[in-house]
Amino acid sequence: MNFKEELQKRTGEIEELLKAWLPEETGFQKTVLEAMNYSVLAGGKRLRPMLMQETFRMFGGEGRLIEPFMAAIEMIHTYSLVHDDLPAMDNDEYRRGKKTTHAVYGEAMGILAGDGLLNLAFETASEAFSMEISPRTAKAFQILSRKAGIYGMIGGQVVDVESEGQPLSREKLDFIYKLKTGALIESSMMIGAVLAGASDEEVAAIERVAGDVGLAFQIQDDILDVTSTLEVLGKPIHSDDKNHKTTYVTLEGLEKAKEDVERISKRALETLKSLDAENAFLEELIRMLITREK
Ligand code: IPE
Ligand code: IPE
Ligand code: MG
Ligand code: MG
Ligand code: MG
Repeated sequence: MNFKEELQKRTGEIEELLKAWLPEETGFQKTVLEAMNYSVLAGGKRLRPMLMQETFRMFGGEGRLIEPFMAAIEMIHTYSLVHDDLPAMDNDEYRRGKKTTHAVYGEAMGILAGDGLLNLAFETASEAFSMEISPRTAKAFQILSRKAGIYGMIGGQVVDVESEGQPLSREKLDFIYKLKTGALIESSMMIGAVLAGASDEEVAAIERVAGDVGLAFQIQDDILDVTSTLEVLGKPIHSDDKNHKTTYVTLEGLEKAKEDVERISKRALETLKSLDAENAFLEELIRMLITREK
């Protein structure tokens, strides 16, 4: 397997799938539709739909039931970024190598485009019920809803913005990271497992794997915020410092943060490998995230 080629191929396939679920830019509300498409099609690694699809494949999943969920998770993730970049939140001007949605379309349209993507995500995911009414479809829909909400991503963002300018305990920082970033990654991998028919024990193990992948991913995001460049990262560096955030890097130092990305990712891989099902590409993808530069 040539990992890089495979990664490109799969990213391209996800890109096509997303385009098929995005709205046509017509009607009096055209501006918001353009803003939604702008934010989703600006690029992005498509990590969450990819993790979802690979976990689905790992447990022998076949067919198209996964597809509306893959589109939905990327819509939710993108909405979270559009809102995260707003002046009231991180107030950032670049995302995915382009001007942020609010910078191009104005703040009101940024808020509405985020709202639009969130609603479209659930409308899209509910298409799965037109394909198959089953307990697994319902379970997947519940995971998608809960992990994006107040007990998941939104909950983490709340504590993140409330903690600006304040010293944070490791315990509270871990809570923020588990929710603001971990929850959507947990959602992605758990939905893949559930729709493929994995057992409850397997889904629980996948939740632990994804929790570690998400934690390592956010620590690496903090590292890149201080070590990368706007050109490579596609978003502004020193955003955390600008917003007076306590991060894993400010709390533990750069060297420990780097060590922990590797340690936590390896723990994820060990849990993954302890399962009967296998997916070599998924393992390689998680390994690649340790050294990602964007
Ligand atoms: C950025 O996520 C937000 C975090 C959770 C750190 P990604 O790094 O996956 O962003 P895109 O989708 O590739 O733009
Ligand atoms: C954001 O964390 C996580 C989200 C839920 C959007 P950050 O604020 O660190 O993400 P970036 O660095 O702006 O992508
Ligand atoms: Mg933020
Ligand atoms: Mg941000
Ligand atoms: Mg960041």
